[in-house]
Amino acid sequence: MATIFAILLCFSAFSLATAQQITLGSALSPTTNPTSWLSPSGRFAFGFYPEGSGFAVGIWLRTIPNKTIVWTAHRNDPPVSIDTRLVLNNSGWLLLIGPAGAQVKPISNASEPASSASMHDSGNFVLYNSNSRILWQSFDYPTDTILVGQPLKVDAVLISSASSFNHSTGGFTLVMHFPGALVNVPIIRTNTIDDIYWDSGTTGQGYNVSMNLGDDGRIYLLNNTGFNIKNLTNGTGYPLNPLVTYRVTLDADGIFRLYSHNFSSNSSSTPTVLWAPIIDGCRVYGLCGLNGFCTLMDTEADCSCPPGFNFVDPDYQFRGCGRNFTRPSCARNKKENIGYSMESLENTAWLNEPYEFHLSMTKDECRDSCLQDCYCEAALYSDGICNKQKLPLSFGRRSVSGTTATTTFIKVGSVNPADEPSIWTGTPANRRRGVRIEILIACIALAAGSFIGFEIFYFLVYRRHRLRYEAINNQPNISLTEGISLRSFSFVELEKATKCFKEELGKGAFGTVFKGSLSNTFIAVKRLDNMVEEREREFQTEMRAIARIHHKNLVRLMGFCDDGSHKLLVYEYMSNGSLADLIFRPESHPNWDERVRITLDIARGILYLHEECETQIIHCDIKPQNILMDASHSAKLSDFGLAKLMKPDQTKTFTGIRGTRGYVAPEWHRNMPITVKADVYSFGVVLLEIICCRKNVEREAPENEIILSDWVYNCFKAGELTKLISEEEVDVSMLEKMLMIGLWCMQDEPSLRPSMKKVVQMLEGIVDIPVPPINSFVSS
Ligand SMILES: *[C@@H]1O[C@H](CO)[C@@H](O)[C@H](O)[C@H]1NC(C)=O
Ligand SMILES: *[C@@H]1O[C@H](CO)[C@@H](O)[C@H](O)[C@H]1NC(C)=O
Ligand SMILES: *[C@@H]1O[C@H](CO)[C@@H](O)[C@H](O)[C@H]1NC(C)=O
Ligand SMILES: *[C@@H]1O[C@H](CO)[C@@H](O)[C@H](O)[C@H]1NC(C)=O
Ligand SMILES: *[C@@H]1O[C@H](CO)[C@@H](O)[C@H](O)[C@H]1NC(C)=O
Ligand SMILES: *[C@@H]1O[C@H](CO)[C@@H](O)[C@H](O)[C@H]1NC(C)=O
Ligand SMILES: *[C@@H]1O[C@H](CO)[C@@H](O)[C@H](O)[C@H]1NC(C)=O
Ligand SMILES: *[C@@H]1O[C@H](CO)[C@@H](O)[C@H](O)[C@H]1NC(C)=O
Ligand SMILES: *[C@@H]1O[C@H](CO)[C@@H](O)[C@H](O)[C@H]1NC(C)=O
Ligand SMILES: *[C@@H]1O[C@H](CO)[C@@H](O)[C@H](O)[C@H]1NC(C)=O
Ligand SMILES: *[C@@H]1O[C@H](CO)[C@@H](O)[C@H](O)[C@H]1NC(C)=O
Repeated sequence: MATIFAILLCFSAFSLATAQQITLGSALSPTTNPTSWLSPSGRFAFGFYPEGSGFAVGIWLRTIPNKTIVWTAHRNDPPVSIDTRLVLNNSGWLLLIGPAGAQVKPISNASEPASSASMHDSGNFVLYNSNSRILWQSFDYPTDTILVGQPLKVDAVLISSASSFNHSTGGFTLVMHFPGALVNVPIIRTNTIDDIYWDSGTTGQGYNVSMNLGDDGRIYLLNNTGFNIKNLTNGTGYPLNPLVTYRVTLDADGIFRLYSHNFSSNSSSTPTVLWAPIIDGCRVYGLCGLNGFCTLMDTEADCSCPPGFNFVDPDYQFRGCGRNFTRPSCARNKKENIGYSMESLENTAWLNEPYEFHLSMTKDECRDSCLQDCYCEAALYSDGICNKQKLPLSFGRRSVSGTTATTTFIKVGSVNPADEPSIWTGTPANRRRGVRIEILIACIALAAGSFIGFEIFYFLVYRRHRLRYEAINNQPNISLTEGISLRSFSFVELEKATKCFKEELGKGAFGTVFKGSLSNTFIAVKRLDNMVEEREREFQTEMRAIARIHHKNLVRLMGFCDDGSHKLLVYEYMSNGSLADLIFRPESHPNWDERVRITLDIARGILYLHEECETQIIHCDIKPQNILMDASHSAKLSDFGLAKLMKPDQTKTFTGIRGTRGYVAPEWHRNMPITVKADVYSFGVVLLEIICCRKNVEREAPENEIILSDWVYNCFKAGELTKLISEEEVDVSMLEKMLMIGLWCMQDEPSLRPSMKKVVQMLEGIVDIPVPPINSFVSS
């Protein structure tokens, strides 16, 4: 031990201080000694280190030749100048003091003054009060690194540094998510697709899970009772060696790695990578930022921008690429296509969901369709499928192996529109075709179209089936329909999971829903009551319909039980209740922005059923009670018990009345054929209810306010919209838009109601909203 000490003391080139206890009145400066406070062994130091053109305060491993920074105070603040001092002042506050005593900035947010501080050999810098109680410690505020004995607790986050020599926040996070999974996500979040690029596969395996690094170099997850639920590295670990230090760092490239530092000789104290969960650097979503794309060259991930784009910041490519020209907005200038051309990128694809797609197009048609469509910024083509995209494009990747057949066309601006009139090659007929959406397309085709040959496709499947339902996927599956696997449960299993159907969550069409739990994951179990023959058919319907659908705004079916007379459906559990609870409770309503977002969630869910599924589905029972809120407050449509599945080519159906009073469209009562527009009507009712936070019919209200839609229409005509919303300040033009959409949806004549696609576009502000006509629904 003495020799180790001796060796380590040799490293003490910069600082003479070896004190274990830092007393009040101690101070550091960036260049004159002391510049840092060392840990007893001298392996770690706390103090000033050079960063950019100045200095930062942090903790580092005293490796040679370069320091290994493991923590930085105020990492996003600009570096400080050479005449700054760091003091533990006589009253016990740890402060940065600028030139001439100015610019006092605390390093810790301890609530009371300290009486001493220590830099520990673990790499933890601690402030103590006079009773030796810890007031503050750097281990509680990790930046991009955790050290041996420093748990990454639930909801704690590691954020990568911008680069190896810039320790401000970069592009990636590693989060200990509730409940129980460690996930890697890029800082650029997209709302269109999930962006988790790595997870520990422990969702639902307990609360308060922490990631830990052992002194033997093992990385493992503990649940809140200290139980080891997973070893990320192999369970054996390395032989204990006091000369070796380990750390886990989320590197600037988004991959977290286990490093070791061997202090037995000077030169080998440079880091060695022992383990990393990701080998393929291009698998890190967001590595190349928005619009950029990644190419794997041997083992190096390399970022590029598509034609017509430049890096926003070439030094920090995770910030993505921006256009080298500006485009006028489409609404104002519909015919802007003159002056643009399409550049192609072979074997390159992005992971966005398209805003519009076509089956059976040729490559040239796909390119032209995008060129002539003002909203189209890029088109992904493969195997006859043309996916039209808006910006920004996310998570692009070029495959060098040549196995991908996806070609991406990018719209680029030419210098002077007048120079290239020949670009306008489309005929009007062509143009119209571009807007038509071919329905009845397999969702699978859609997915395959956008991700064909894309190995990340695996990842999407991975996230849908593994991440959330890993516990279930470990069980034997049965295949209900090709490509979709649902778990089959026995009645006894579900009886146990729901504790004999103890906790009722609500009643749906033909059944009661109960709360249950399966290996720490909550579930919702719908028991279909009194299964007579026609119910049997409903059961089959519901299963067939929803087994195939995957959309973030639809509640997901996880499995079923078909056990003699017992018919049950097992769903993901929605922890935040129904929309009805949320908007109709008297105490507090979701705020305006929240309500707008919920409306859009619902519209997207319905749009999916109407236009994006293999089988067109009319839900038939859209109402706030059937819209559930998940843990992240996303709205999801549930209860498909009344849903009507349309045959291919079928657009209307005659059927007995389905739905709930107050929400059903008038055509149900008139023996008219039913189309998807019946759902649009119900959506309109729900929209007005969400906006105004009250029920469509409220008998206690003043006479002219009893029927919400009538009242809305009258206020709309009179220009007194703010009467409708009591509480908060809202964006009146947005309020007007929302109400107009609601009034359009509630038109008596089905053909006047917009399609859900149009509704989504109106909500997104992509298309203008005309003034709704005098409504036949206004009671006379
Ligand atoms: C470090 O990166 C951030 C952005 O990530 C940038 O704003 C800052 O200027 C960089 N600092 C230096 C010293 O380069
Ligand atoms: C040490 O840092 C310098 C500049 O900061 C860099 O050029 C050099 O490659 C680094 N050395 C090692 C071994 O990382
Ligand atoms: C220490 O810093 C605190 C906070 O800025 C200040 O209130 C206090 O007066 C300082 N004490 C001394 C002795 O300078
Ligand atoms: C210090 O900041 C953290 C969050 O950064 C917060 O959770 C904690 O309560 C703060 N402590 C005090 C004493 O303010
Ligand atoms: C921790 O994990 C163990 C083993 O899986 C389990 O028995 C225990 O109940 C878990 N603790 C909690 C609180 O989940
Ligand atoms: C998680 O930890 C917090 C704080 O330590 C505690 O209040 C909470 O009860 C824990 N949750 C569970 C499920 O153990
Ligand atoms: C992880 O490894 C440790 C040590 O080998 C072992 O005790 C533990 O059971 C392992 N945990 C799991 C979940 O396999
Ligand atoms: C993991 O296991 C392999 C062989 O199974 C062994 O070679 C390796 O050293 C182990 N790693 C650790 C960290 O123990
Ligand atoms: C550390 O380095 C020394 C000298 O290079 C070497 O003998 C020893 O095996 C190394 N230890 C580890 C655990 O790598
Ligand atoms: C470490 O480096 C110092 C100075 O460069 C040198 O004096 C010392 O001998 C080295 N120690 C070892 C173990 O190589
Ligand atoms: C923009 O990029 C395109 C394609 O790379 C190029 O032809 C054009 O000259 C660039 N324009 C400007 C203004 O840099």
